[in-house]
Amino acid sequence: MAVDVLLGLQWGDEGKGKIVDYLANKYDVVCRFQGGPNAGHTLYINDKKLVLHTIPSGVFRENVINVIGNGVVLDPTTFAKELDNINPIVSDLHDRLIISEKTHLILPTHRWIDLASENAKGKQKIGSTLRGIGPCYMDKTGRNGLRVGDLFRSNFEHLYKSLKEKHLQFIKQFPDVEFDLKDQEENWMNSLAQLRQMQVKDITYFLNKKLNEGKSILAEGAQGTMLDVDFGTYPYVTSSNTITAGVCTGLGVAPSSINKVIGIAKAYCTRVGSGPFPSELLEETGDRLRKEGNEFGSTTGRARRCGWLDMIQLKYSIMINGVTDLCITKMDVMNNFETVSITDAYVMDNNEVTNELPYDLSAVKEVKNQDFQGWQSNIQGINSFEALPEQARNFLNAIESLSKTKISYLSYGPGRDELIIR
Ligand code: GDP
Ligand code: IMO
Ligand code: MG
Repeated sequence: MAVDVLLGLQWGDEGKGKIVDYLANKYDVVCRFQGGPNAGHTLYINDKKLVLHTIPSGVFRENVINVIGNGVVLDPTTFAKELDNINPIVSDLHDRLIISEKTHLILPTHRWIDLASENAKGKQKIGSTLRGIGPCYMDKTGRNGLRVGDLFRSNFEHLYKSLKEKHLQFIKQFPDVEFDLKDQEENWMNSLAQLRQMQVKDITYFLNKKLNEGKSILAEGAQGTMLDVDFGTYPYVTSSNTITAGVCTGLGVAPSSINKVIGIAKAYCTRVGSGPFPSELLEETGDRLRKEGNEFGSTTGRARRCGWLDMIQLKYSIMINGVTDLCITKMDVMNNFETVSITDAYVMDNNEVTNELPYDLSAVKEVKNQDFQGWQSNIQGINSFEALPEQARNFLNAIESLSKTKISYLSYGPGRDELIIR
């Protein structure tokens, strides 16, 4: 069998957690392949809101095995908190959660470096979630990192201390920031016991054996394509490959094993943190999207910047990821809008008009939009595309014809089943 992929096509927070939770019972295994606790994936289980940061969103489906891949970076402290939250709901969590021995560990000093380096950047700051993601991936590629498998080595303490020492030297270059290392280190050390009790193994053999046995795998992306370290709005990005290609390096599965790629996008756009965002709405309409969509970060609580759906950006993401199916979420947020719009051209600083993503997205002077009449009715509870108001269908048809990609899923609420499937 094959690996299907579900990933974000915008700047994250597209509703990946909800859709993975819905789809998970059609799969044998659900895997996270990149990112770390910078992610916040929201799910509603029996009306209870849960936010997952490291644990895959398939964990609430019986019999589904969940894997944390080698491409992920894991903070034992946040991971232990997540376990404590989920344990009362999922009784067999330890049987169904597997961690790669090659997953890199986020140390308290990684978070300290993140904070100090962001602080030193001043106005140029990335708007990082300050979870230590960048510094941890730096140590991975710099070949200094510690991995989950190292927790079982007899010299782990020595390995930890020498990496911490390197970090303390590195931090000296930045202006002072407040960070209680003693306290953070104590929490971190205490949470290692929980991590050591988990199933830690070679997930690459595990997953490839599953594929050979005819089992199905769903790879769950974190962040979004525009935050990809190579293809996003660099340097205002995260430090991993968030795209389909990241599935292969983040799990050790071959490109030929990938079948469907479900790309998920909101019916509008949001971004949290700094960096260019051409279709951003800085006046009332943006505020209205934020209010109606409750656009506040799942990890940091920060207000998300809001704007219209950007077709240039979306087509770029579809191209890079090889999207076979689109999932449009939060359609209900615009239920009461008189007009909804789609950005379909950029006017650059030099007055050139383009519909391709430029090298420097901040050189977009203004955008051209196509306007659509709003549907001005509640679409919640509608269970087929055909039953949607004509104006809503016009908007969705335009997305399909501009992107040349089929919308297979339409989400109209946060609940697991608030979804139209085509
Ligand atoms: P993720 O990071 O991609 O998993 O997304 P987040 O959980 O960070 O943010 C998405 C937010 O939108 C969450 O609060 C979800 O509960 C909510 N949500 C998901 N789909 C829908 C939808 O179709 N309509 C509405 N109104 N909310 C949704
Ligand atoms: P999910 O999986 C939205 C953003 C941060 C910042 C930039 C770099 O919930 O969609 P980092 O902490 O990686 O150094 O931050 O990336 N960012 C996200 N934005 N959703 C996320 O994850 C994000 N993870 C990181 O706001 O701008
Ligand atoms: Mg999120």
